[in-house]
Amino acid sequence: MEFKNELSLRVEAAEDVVCRFLPDVEGMQKTIFEAMEYGVTAGGKRLRPILMNETFQLFGGKGDVIEPFMAAIEMIHTYSLIHDDLPAMDNDSLRRGKPTVHIAFGEAMGVLAGDALLNYAFETALNAYDADTDVKSVTEAMRILARNAGVFGMIGGQVVDVEAEKKQLEVTEDMLHFIYDLKTGALIEASMMIGAVLAGATESQVQAIEGIAKNIGLAFQIQDDILDIEGDEATLGKPIGSDIRNEKSTYVTFAGMEKSKEEVKRLTDEAIAELNKLPVHNEFLVELLSYLVYRDK
Ligand code: IPE
Ligand code: IPE
Ligand code: MG
Ligand code: MG
Ligand code: MG
Repeated sequence: MEFKNELSLRVEAAEDVVCRFLPDVEGMQKTIFEAMEYGVTAGGKRLRPILMNETFQLFGGKGDVIEPFMAAIEMIHTYSLIHDDLPAMDNDSLRRGKPTVHIAFGEAMGVLAGDALLNYAFETALNAYDADTDVKSVTEAMRILARNAGVFGMIGGQVVDVEAEKKQLEVTEDMLHFIYDLKTGALIEASMMIGAVLAGATESQVQAIEGIAKNIGLAFQIQDDILDIEGDEATLGKPIGSDIRNEKSTYVTFAGMEKSKEEVKRLTDEAIAELNKLPVHNEFLVELLSYLVYRDK
């Protein structure tokens, strides 16, 4: 089957999993369920749950233990986007082709929908303890999820990203690397590492996956910055020019467009080469990583 068809089947499957774990829209606090659903079902590439599942398959993972974690990572990712778009942060009004949650539901609900998805992600991931997988692996997966979403992961990266805005800090290449590795890399690393852990990969294999995912995370954020300049708003489903408006220091402002594109390719090639050194193989995963280099959304 052609790669694009395979990808859309996986997007659909990931979407089904995520939606299955969302709470029903009912009760006195119904608005929050509506806002959560609105943010999650708005569309999106579903890259993190797909990477998680493909890494799980790579290491021969069996059963449905992966599903609560696929839903949880997409909930956490969506919360990070909802908060990233808030007026106090990037102040964007379009996301996944629709008005952002705070535009559609008001700023207070935007804050609460993010909080709600973060908390519900952990409630959801806990369902994995009911699966027929050893408790130690599930606990390790929970630990990776918690750490990489938090102050040593995504939140930590967002903190320095905000502080570096409008040249409030002199941004060095190291600092940029720190921001990207955390704000974007951490959730991509968590996705792939959790897939590996739940499939029973060895410690050194999980470490190899962490390194591969680090490269992919960096490449993914550099490409995001490129698309913020060269992308098409309708295709992207989010505004272009957000970084310039917010006076963000990005890899593109730092190294220039040409070098940035080369870096996306170099980081990805390196990741694929490392992936190919493993004793296991998943052709779709390799194709997915190559596809991301030239993504236009
Ligand atoms: C956007 O992530 C935020 C970044 C970390 C660059 P995605 O580009 O994966 O957004 P969706 O999930 O497809 O909307
Ligand atoms: C986002 O970086 C990283 C997150 C943790 C949400 P950006 O601010 O560049 O993401 P977009 O471009 O708004 O999706
Ligand atoms: Mg941002
Ligand atoms: Mg943003
Ligand atoms: Mg961006």
